[in-house]
Order: sequence, then C-alpha cells, then structure tokens
Amino acid sequence: MSTFFSQLVAWQRHHGRHGLPWQGTRDPYRVWLSEVMLQQTQVVTVLDYFARFLQAFPTVADLAAAEQDAVLALWSGLGYYSRARNLHRCAQQVVAQWGGQFPDNSTDLASLPGIGPSTAAAIAAFCFGERHSILDANVQRVLSRLLAVEADLANTKAVKVLWQQADALIPAEASADDMVSYTQGLMDLGATVCTSRTAHCLLCPAQGECVAHQQGRMLDYPVRTKKLKRTAENWHVLVVYSAQGVWLQRRPEQGVWAGLYCPPMFATEDEALQALPAGAAVAFGEPFKHVLTHKDLYLHPIVVQQNQAPRVAGQWVQGWAELGLPAPMRKYLQDLGV
Ligand code: ADE
Repeated sequence: MSTFFSQLVAWQRHHGRHGLPWQGTRDPYRVWLSEVMLQQTQVVTVLDYFARFLQAFPTVADLAAAEQDAVLALWSGLGYYSRARNLHRCAQQVVAQWGGQFPDNSTDLASLPGIGPSTAAAIAAFCFGERHSILDANVQRVLSRLLAVEADLANTKAVKVLWQQADALIPAEASADDMVSYTQGLMDLGATVCTSRTAHCLLCPAQGECVAHQQGRMLDYPVRTKKLKRTAENWHVLVVYSAQGVWLQRRPEQGVWAGLYCPPMFATEDEALQALPAGAAVAFGEPFKHVLTHKDLYLHPIVVQQNQAPRVAGQWVQGWAELGLPAPMRKYLQDLGV
C-alpha cells in the first residue's frame, strides 16, 4: 500500500476524531446531513443541529415531505440558508428520482442539489467505501504540501490534476473500512495538524514523505495567485415594495456603490429578515453574481410585498427609475416589474 495512505489510516484510527454521531454509520442520510452541515460550520455547533434535525426528520422521506418553512426553522442559526433549501430539494429528488435511496456512487451523488464533488466523494467513501479522494480546501492544502504542488490552485485545471494525484494515493486494495479511516484522516489532518497558519509537522504521520517539509517550505503551499485571490462577499438584498413604491436607502459615501440609491443590503440573511415583521411572506430570489474590480458580490434577493415599512433606514420611492441605482439593482427591479 502507498505509505501515505496506510500511515494516514493508522494515524486516524489512533489519533483522529472518533465518536461523533455521524461516524460509525453507513446510513447515507445521516452522513449526507452531517456533511452538508459541516460544509461551513464547526463540529461543536453542528452536534445540536444534527440531533434536532434527525429527531424532526428521521428519514429522507420525512425531510422530503416537510414544509420548507419547517426545514428553514430548524436550520435557523446555522447560516448559509441556501444549504437548507438545497437540502430540502435534495431530499425531494432522492425520493422522486431514486426511490428514496441515495445513489451509491460519487458521480450520481454529485448530480443532486447542494452536493459538490468533494462532498459526494466523502459520502461515497463513508457509506460505500468508494476509492475516490475528497478534495475540499483543507485537503487541497494538505496534499499540495505533501506533493509540493507548484501549480496555481486558483486554476480549475490545476485542481483537476491534483484530484488525479489524490486518487493515485489510494491503493487498489484499499478496503471500505480503510476508505472510511483515510477520508476522515484527511479531514482530521487538515483541521488539526496541517492548518493554514501553521504546520504541526512533529505531529504529522506523513512528515517523512512530505516534500514541503523536506523543503522547509510548508507555508508556501498551496500556491494560489494573487490575481485570482479576489475576495467574494455575500450580500442579502431586501427588496420591499408596495403601492407606495420600493423601499430604498442611500448608500454611504464610502465604499461600494457610494451614494447610490439601493434596497437595504445585509451581510447575513438573518439580519435582513430581522428588519421584517415576524411571519412576513418572503420570496427568496435566485442569487446572482456581480463582478466589481476587486471583489465578486453574490447578491441574494429577499423579496417582500408589504405596506409596512421595514425596520431599516430608507424611504418609499415611487419613481426609482429617476434615481441613481447601481446597474444590477436597476435591472433586478425592472425584471421584477415593481
Ligand atoms: N468536516 C466536513 N466533514 C467532516 C467530518 N466528517 N468530520 C469532521 N469534520 C468534517
């Protein structure tokens, strides 16, 4: 067996994380639910949510049959609500298209809403022992150090090559149990030993093979060009309209869209929803991307028709077309026909 693989398997069994409620099961529903929750949220936070979700929806069919509001309510506080909406849609597809059984391979899993290629590989490895590597950002870091990958991982082609190298680290004779330990080991190594700010090489089972360690250049990897290291921000746009007009505010004099009129923007969906009365009938518009010079904005519209003013600075505007609005907002309001 390749040394890295067998060393990581042995290390995970002794030193990795054990006893988490989604471990020790091959039930794809539980594994999928945990992986989606863990995509942007820490283990300690996920523990409670995971238990409450399973209590409310013990099977994928229960989740599929739930009201979206019930799913969002249980998700409340975990953030990134598109995950919850995709979770619900995914459950419905599993029931409608897969007879209530999750598909048993990463390719089909990745065709479902909210399951990216690395999450698909994780589910397939944990549940079905599939010999295919995960490659989320943490694992990209671990493997780019192990192999001293000089290619720019801002480039999708370079990531594809790394994925082939990652798969080549998995021996053909790896058992399903090995794949479970190996996959968890990659996650654990990235989360606890080979972190972005430090490389705790003394604790690492792969120290002897790690090329970055031999070079003494651990923190030089992964290579990602500055140009492509643009920042990205999620903005939640609260579009409130009524017969009185559209609720707009003037942007501050500094920063993006300085001085323009715009629907109120929020950094989180929770904050946006807090400006509305409880139980307001909101519609979540399709998110869209707007490219600025130094950052990509991901705009997530929240649309509400109501007479009541939202609890956020602004005013009703009838003739918004007359005012200076950022182009993407102007287009959005036009398309909405408000
Ligand atoms: N992050 C993503 N998946 C995880 C898992 N299975 N265990 C711990 N952290 C994770």
